[in-house]
Amino acid sequence: MSLTLACRNFAYTETADVPCAGEGEVTVMVNVSSVNPVEWNGATRGGGEFLGGNGELGQDVGGIVVAVGAGCDVAKDIGPNAYWSKYGYTRPAVQLGDEIWGNTAAEWTFPIAGQAGFAQFSNVYCDRVGIRSRAQAKASAVPITDLGTIPLAAGTSYALLYNAGAPWQPQDDVTVVIASGSGGTGTMAIQEARALGATRVITSSSPNHADRLYEIGAEIVVDYHNYDTMFDALPDDSVDVVWDNYGYGFDAAARVIRPGGKYITTSLTSGGAWQQAKRQQDDTTARLAAYIDMSTKPGVERMYTGGWGSPGAPYTELGRMVEAGQLRPVISNRYTLRQAAALYTEAANGHSLGKLALDVPAPDWDPRVIPGWPED
Ligand SMILES: NC(=O)c1ccc[n+]([C@@H]2O[C@H](COP(=O)([O-])OP(=O)(O)OC[C@H]3O[C@@H](n4cnc5c(N)ncnc54)[C@H](OP(=O)(O)O)[C@@H]3O)[C@@H](O)[C@H]2O)c1
Repeated sequence: MSLTLACRNFAYTETADVPCAGEGEVTVMVNVSSVNPVEWNGATRGGGEFLGGNGELGQDVGGIVVAVGAGCDVAKDIGPNAYWSKYGYTRPAVQLGDEIWGNTAAEWTFPIAGQAGFAQFSNVYCDRVGIRSRAQAKASAVPITDLGTIPLAAGTSYALLYNAGAPWQPQDDVTVVIASGSGGTGTMAIQEARALGATRVITSSSPNHADRLYEIGAEIVVDYHNYDTMFDALPDDSVDVVWDNYGYGFDAAARVIRPGGKYITTSLTSGGAWQQAKRQQDDTTARLAAYIDMSTKPGVERMYTGGWGSPGAPYTELGRMVEAGQLRPVISNRYTLRQAAALYTEAANGHSLGKLALDVPAPDWDPRVIPGWPED
């Protein structure tokens, strides 16, 4: 089979079909992807279902723009929306050779055909990704092969902290609990909470990961193995914000949250009981577990935010944090595209530090053949 990447101004032929950027999209030569729980939860239930949606692998993507679809070639004022009400955002005009990092899917959807990080080319929506020029990319200490592993985890954590009231001022003296510190969301959320003004961050992990979590900004790292839940290690009314990225549940966290504080998580189905039931392929218990925890605490707000599919505005903010040295990808292992199954296996074991990178080999092709490719 021959593949054609048939774009407006060039064609590249190799081994599979790649749709070229449509309106509002750019085509990216992919350097890197990663994996997130939403992508392996289905597989662990059996049936080979890696994504709940369309079967495209790899929501995280980092790569180089090789085709610019209509509308992406001019700057666009996206402006505040209901979700990101505090931000206006002007998306720059995208140029050939720019680097992008972000999520292949639109908000609230899974990727569709042609949008996948586990591929040498992918289309992405230009309004929904981080964009850096060739000059910015060259000047950065963080290569795209690292940056492209964090979009979903960093965007999700940022969305939750933002919705819980960040940024904070020093006089707010805010204490944030990131329930689970070691994973993709945890390693991002610890750094983001500090960058967004939290005075102290408390988290939990296995003992072998604690030192790294102190290095990236945690003040207290609880060994969760010593407690029923990590909250048992904390005093009453001592915390302002809990981002429950393990899914211990509001019941477990409420005692430590002071009146005026907030409990936030990604969805009802993030609960630990839910996760446990899912792993045991017990759908009935899982559904019940998602609904039975309806407790409240006076003065404490319970919030649910779906963070994935984050739009471009937060990637701009996160890019600033990266360049300021406040946010660094934490990557504990790298796999190649041919080792994708091993990457999924390690991720689903649930004890990796930070992110697992999926390195995508460059095609045997030089993008400098594209008319209009920028001079070095
Ligand atoms: N990734 C995303 O973008 C995203 C988006 C939306 C929702 N979520 C939800 O957020 C949750 C976390 O996602 P993630 O990407 O951070 O997952 P992850 O990278 O798979 O998290 C793995 C980490 O969980 C830790 N862990 C295991 N058992 C724990 C326990 N009892 N208490 C505290 N930590 C424990 C492990 O730490 P140790 O190895 O140190 O034990 C491990 O490093 C999931 O429920 C996911 O569905 C994630």
